[in-house]
Amino acid sequence: MENKQINIGIIGCGRIAQTRHIPEYASNKNANILGYFDFNKQRAEEIAKKYGGKVYESVEAMLADNDIDAVSVCVTNSAHASISIQALNAGKNVLCEKPMATSLEDSEAMVWAAKKNHKLLMIDQNQRFAKTHIRAKELLEKNTIGKALTFKSTFGHGGPETWSVDGGPNTWFFDKNKSKYGAIFDLGVHKIDLVQYLLNSAVNNVSARLTTLDKKDSTGKLIGVDDNAISIYELDNGVIGTVTSSWTYYGEEDNSTIVYGSEGIMKIYDDPTYSIVVIKKNGEKILYDIDQIQTNDNQTKSGVMDEFIDSLIEKRVPKSDAESVINSMRAVFASIESNETGKRVSISGTK
Ligand SMILES: NC(=O)c1ccc[n+]([C@@H]2O[C@H](COP(=O)([O-])OP(=O)(O)OC[C@H]3O[C@@H](n4cnc5c(N)ncnc54)[C@H](O)[C@@H]3O)[C@@H](O)[C@H]2O)c1
Repeated sequence: MENKQINIGIIGCGRIAQTRHIPEYASNKNANILGYFDFNKQRAEEIAKKYGGKVYESVEAMLADNDIDAVSVCVTNSAHASISIQALNAGKNVLCEKPMATSLEDSEAMVWAAKKNHKLLMIDQNQRFAKTHIRAKELLEKNTIGKALTFKSTFGHGGPETWSVDGGPNTWFFDKNKSKYGAIFDLGVHKIDLVQYLLNSAVNNVSARLTTLDKKDSTGKLIGVDDNAISIYELDNGVIGTVTSSWTYYGEEDNSTIVYGSEGIMKIYDDPTYSIVVIKKNGEKILYDIDQIQTNDNQTKSGVMDEFIDSLIEKRVPKSDAESVINSMRAVFASIESNETGKRVSISGTK
């Protein structure tokens, strides 16, 4: 694929496609968006008018187009696996949104489809790409806070009903048939993936509770998926910590991760000015002003689409290659099992 543009198809033209995928491809000189498909044809047409490219009549029509090299899958969670596998089998490379799939079996089938077809499958675990997280990982690897012992990672905001292009109390995010799970799938998966990335170790045991406390659908009934989830994760390297995901943090978003080590504390995206604050054992503070996290209201370039395009051109494995995300999916589904059984769940097959 050297010396040629990568031709992209966008499947699903909602909020994440409009805020990240489409503008980030549009600003990449090696990417060319050939066209769009969305159940809502008018939405796809409006996007095509704004950014150029055509509107396809179906996923099949897009995948049958030999000029398409790769697709971004930006649809509801329930369709990630089927569309990604269909695209891989049609010989396309795939960048799929998180959560990768709605079951571990489907996640593994996606990885297998990529391998079988010798195509690239990347998952949009964009927290790995945030400059502050990259720096925090380097600082942790340099033992800036000594040996990591425990962590507390949180992703909470007021809920997806103000985010989705089809928002409000009937958003698909609240519909179990389309989302399968709630806050843990929407937000928890980001932090479960992040802590393993930052601490360079895999989750091997999980205890979790998922609950629905406050979110109601248009009939006034509590929604059928979790609006809060709290999990305890034990890592292979002995580190233990919690991941909290919430759709009921009204008024202010929390996207912070705090790591407590033998020589001090590292607070990441916890201070409004300094994206990393290191507090040494003796109380000394070191402040790092690196960047601000992307939030629903503050969209900055994620770098994910650039990495997808670069890895296709350079024929290399991308940073959030699907295989590297499998253990995050294992941890998510172990959390769900722990909630259902009331037991601590051990993850087999961790690397
Ligand atoms: N990486 C991130 O930080 C991040 C942030 C937000 C959303 N997401 C993920 O992106 C995906 C899409 O979320 P969103 O916020 O854009 O939702 P959205 O409701 O704003 O948009 C979804 C779009 O997909 C279309 N659609 C749904 N199913 C389809 C199908 N089978 N075929 C074609 N079109 C279909 C809808 O008509 C709509 O236009 C979700 O899986 C979500 O978890 C990721």
